[in-house]
Amino acid sequence: MTQRIIIGISGATGPIYGIRLLEALQHTPVETHLIVSEWAEKTIQIETDYKPSDVKKLADYVYPSGNQAARISSGSFVTDAMVIVPCSMKTLSSVAHGFADNLIARAADVILKERRKLLLIPRETPLHEIHLENMLRLSRMGVTVMPPMPAFYNNPETIDDMVNHTVSRILDQLHIENDLTKRWLE
Ligand SMILES: Cc1cc2nc3c(=O)[nH]c(=O)nc-3n(C[C@H](O)[C@H](O)[C@H](O)COP(=O)(O)O)c2cc1C
Repeated sequence: MTQRIIIGISGATGPIYGIRLLEALQHTPVETHLIVSEWAEKTIQIETDYKPSDVKKLADYVYPSGNQAARISSGSFVTDAMVIVPCSMKTLSSVAHGFADNLIARAADVILKERRKLLLIPRETPLHEIHLENMLRLSRMGVTVMPPMPAFYNNPETIDDMVNHTVSRILDQLHIENDLTKRWLE
């Protein structure tokens, strides 16, 4: 059966990770449901050559982050997984505490209550105790917490190589075959 995946892009630096994930999923049968936070719209404009409207065209369905009435706000709309990429510390905190203040946090809250798969790609450095506690709290609930840490064993030559490596590891977690990065095959 086709996977139905929610992608939340929040306002941490690195919206390119979310954009690349959407691009990679274009070549798969996955049905994508996208939410871009208000601050992610800003980081997309600051950091990339994409317009937020271009990014939204990469998804099958798009919801405004303020629309708590969207179908992904309800557990009755069945989904397979959600990825928040990148995940700001504010969104991390909302998810860790069930605050559901916007549609990204609410959709993640639904994923948690329905015991579905949630992947967070938190981006901040350095991290203080609250950030770390929030990540631990979610990890203990079964959430996959995978900060976008570049690897060097695959000899990246460009920023794209580094972005693709992280996105490849996200796709691996979703059991989606991909050859976005060089794998360690010694
Ligand atoms: C250019 C830029 C880069 C930012 N980078 C980060 C970051 O790496 N991590 C983070 O937690 N917040 C970062 N922020 C701050 C968040 O955007 C801010 O906390 C915002 O309220 C997050 O809201 P959201 O999670 O709903 O998108 C950044 C903001 C800007 C404008």
